[in-house]
Amino acid sequence: MCGIVGYVGKKDSVEILLNSLAKLEYRGYDSAGIAVFDEGKIVVEKTKGRLADLGEKLEKTYRPKGTCGIGHTRWATHGEPSDINSHPHGNEKITVVHNGIIENYNKIKTFLVEKGYVFESETDTETVAKLLDYYYNGNPFETIVKVLKEIEGSYGLGIMFADFPEKIFAVRKDSPLIVGVGEGENFIASDVPAILKYTRNYYLIEQNEIVTLSKDEVVIQDIHGDIIKKELKVADWDEESAEKGGFEHFMLKEIHEQPTALKTTIMPRVLNGMPFLEECGITTDMLKLYNKIFIVACGTAMHAGMVGKYLIERIARVDVTVDIASEFRYRNPIISSKDLVILISQSGETADTKAVLRLAKEHRATTLSIVNVKGSSIARESDFVIYTHAGPEISVASTKAYTVQLSIMYLLTFQLAYARGKITEEECREYTRKLVELPDIITDVLEIKDKCQYAASKLVNADSLLYIGRGLDYALSMEGSLKLKEISYIHSESYAAGELKHGTISLVTEHMPVIAVATQDDLFEKTISNVKEVKARGAYVLMICKENADYDNDAVDFVIKIPAADNIFMPIITAVPLQFIAYYTSVLKGCDVDKPRNLAKSVTVE
Ligand code: F6R
Repeated sequence: MCGIVGYVGKKDSVEILLNSLAKLEYRGYDSAGIAVFDEGKIVVEKTKGRLADLGEKLEKTYRPKGTCGIGHTRWATHGEPSDINSHPHGNEKITVVHNGIIENYNKIKTFLVEKGYVFESETDTETVAKLLDYYYNGNPFETIVKVLKEIEGSYGLGIMFADFPEKIFAVRKDSPLIVGVGEGENFIASDVPAILKYTRNYYLIEQNEIVTLSKDEVVIQDIHGDIIKKELKVADWDEESAEKGGFEHFMLKEIHEQPTALKTTIMPRVLNGMPFLEECGITTDMLKLYNKIFIVACGTAMHAGMVGKYLIERIARVDVTVDIASEFRYRNPIISSKDLVILISQSGETADTKAVLRLAKEHRATTLSIVNVKGSSIARESDFVIYTHAGPEISVASTKAYTVQLSIMYLLTFQLAYARGKITEEECREYTRKLVELPDIITDVLEIKDKCQYAASKLVNADSLLYIGRGLDYALSMEGSLKLKEISYIHSESYAAGELKHGTISLVTEHMPVIAVATQDDLFEKTISNVKEVKARGAYVLMICKENADYDNDAVDFVIKIPAADNIFMPIITAVPLQFIAYYTSVLKGCDVDKPRNLAKSVTVE
């Protein structure tokens, strides 16, 4: 997730680009850059760091003058945050800003290197800039169409051609793009907040529509060159709600971003239908070696690790220990150089997780981190890192970061199981195919929010509640319970359903609602027995199960049904209603959803 902007008009473009980018910093802030037509030439200024650093650099060095330019604020995916990897990319003839991931950039890069191109950065975007240069025939539209036919992945692109000063070209696929329409000035942007200071009128650009922007005209064409007429939309949000994409809270927005976050995390790691982690340095040979696997993390990230343990042990048949980082580091764990220690962290800065990483290195274990923030301490210090591509997560309660962590757990499990001969190539392909389908399933699951809102209305007056489940459902219910308690301040616990009768069931009364997560076919009957036990003690029972589940209506009070996928994929699907239930309970209680009391997004102290 990055932010792109563009301006063409009569005013100082630098000021407008910087103001607009400031409204997109929520999309990433590893580096920033602009390109401006300055006396007919493209002048690029960029730097690692935040937008303020770019502003300072412009004051100290050179502030381009001109009325047409493009800009970028980066959330690094390919290549560390650095000056050289910052956007724009290109040369004095063609310059590009990009939001998204070019999945086949390696193939294109190899092709261009053979043609004599020399690459400066580690980014996927530079391949687009150079491919445009390769195909350039004096006609920007035709050149862009040729490039679109070659590139795979997601993109929102802003492009300047030196031969066409005072014009900006733009196109998108699977990354957002809007065109702002003003009086004698026009804009492109990844999101509406970027333009609200200047205009409220905008067009929504659809897949592979190509935009040509000058100060007095907006031309939108399909790839055949046919002109597309569009309805001009009028933004009625204030600037703050616009940053939330029109959602009431960042948490709700981030729940809705999950299909895209999953796609951008999974797709670059699938090659010819098989998991492909080689780009992160993880080879099949290496996965054959380890004796034991430790997964260590905190909070939500640890819950992703719990799901990972069930998956790896079930499918790859490798012994996995999951632990909370603050416990693991002080329990003198038995780790050897033959073990793999996996650290999971959204921020990549959590103090206890970082300490475990260092401990694992002291024991000479191989360390692999699964991290969302590029270039963070944990990512830098690990032997291997697999980045999740969720984009910045602003709400303190983690949602999209959790589901993308799960998606990496699946890829790793499949590659591990295949490397160790526990599944055939055909089985591995089948699992991978099902994983690739998940983002679309999640899009459908987002539709059940009304049911979850109703469920929340039944929980809001409780002082305490229980989440129960078995197997993968238990691992997931830990996350459901944490989500609810951290943002609604209702006490809740997650229990293995079969363990209730060994003590905890004495708490169950009509005042203690129970949320039963029952998505695992092989364990369904067993869980239903436990559901009946709590129902018989007066609990209000809310059950989440597959749409085809067969159960006795009297055993439950309210049911949320979700699409029936393969058992192993149910945690990632079921996470969505659990997130919604927590969200709406918090809203109904009037809590500060995005900034719950006593919590911080990044926990850099022990
Ligand atoms: C809960 C939540 C926390 C984090 C935990 C670890 O919603 O977000 O439990 O998961 O503080 O943080 P990271 O993943 O940054 O290491």
